[in-house]
Amino acid sequence: MIDRLQAIGAQAVEEIRAAGDTAALEALRVRYLGRKGELTACLKGMGRLDPAERPRVGKVANEVKAAIEAALAERREALRAAELERRLAGEAVDVTLPGRRGHGGGLHPLTLVVRELLDIFGQMGFSVAEGPEVELEYYNFEALNIPQDHPARDMQDTFFVAPGVVLRTHTSPVQIRTMEAQKPPVKIVAPGKVYRCDSDVTHSPMFHQIEGLLVDRDVTFADLKGVLTEFVHRYYGPDTGVRFRPSFFPFTEPSAEVDIQCVLCRGSGCRVCSGTGWLEILGSGMVDPAVYGFVDYDPEEVQGFAFGMGVERIAMLKYGIDDIRLFFENDLRFLRHFG
Ligand code: DAH
Repeated sequence: MIDRLQAIGAQAVEEIRAAGDTAALEALRVRYLGRKGELTACLKGMGRLDPAERPRVGKVANEVKAAIEAALAERREALRAAELERRLAGEAVDVTLPGRRGHGGGLHPLTLVVRELLDIFGQMGFSVAEGPEVELEYYNFEALNIPQDHPARDMQDTFFVAPGVVLRTHTSPVQIRTMEAQKPPVKIVAPGKVYRCDSDVTHSPMFHQIEGLLVDRDVTFADLKGVLTEFVHRYYGPDTGVRFRPSFFPFTEPSAEVDIQCVLCRGSGCRVCSGTGWLEILGSGMVDPAVYGFVDYDPEEVQGFAFGMGVERIAMLKYGIDDIRLFFENDLRFLRHFG
């Protein structure tokens, strides 16, 4: 019996040392020490022993049990340590890795475009003027030769704020405010936000315009063409074709819209230019003498030209952006392309 006990003990200790995980270890404990375990079964035979033998066998049985328990405890501790080691290795942080660079922020693409456009006109001698976004109907319409009930008021879907007060629908009222405030010569560009009740992929209820006004003695349509052609060549490149197409605005006579050669197909015709090869980029014209009447300039003494352009449209054409809403969604993936 002593041999049998020692054999069980030796085998148990060997198997316990080889146990791969805590579940296997628990199965071994049950198998050897459990109520129906091998050691227990063996000890049940003690009753049949010669009473003189029992103390010796009992001592060996206790030793074997203690050895199995010690082996279990040792293996349990080894497995726990290994598991902890594995977890720590999995969660390890490499503190020597370089940190992720934070985004420093930057100017909005529209701000960059406005600055670039103002720079070009600045180099041609224009200074910057500004006016209010909440504007009197008088400046937004009347003084620009757009009387009440004139059909041209329908061209612009106006937001009304109060009787006689609107959100300006264009930057043209800055022309009037500037001429009211100073005598000729005048040579300004006026950037700013404008508002129209309109919204789709190419229209936003708030957008930006830059207005231009030059009034002096002996200014002709040739000056208008020269300045605007130079502007196109500086902004879109010296090889870009330009054409002046007759148009109508109540505050200019004659009026012209300026087209540039399609930036995508270079004039051969594509989806962007609707097959025409041309893209409209701004409105312009010689200041209508009726406008001078509102600001006390003498049309016999001075002449001038004016122009107005949509900044988003100019930027969309330059960068091939096909949805105006991208400017206002503040998606960093879009904004980071610029600046
Ligand atoms: N104010 C016009 C608009 O918003 C654009 C414009 C056209 C401005 C001709 C001008 C001009 O100064 O001469 O549609």
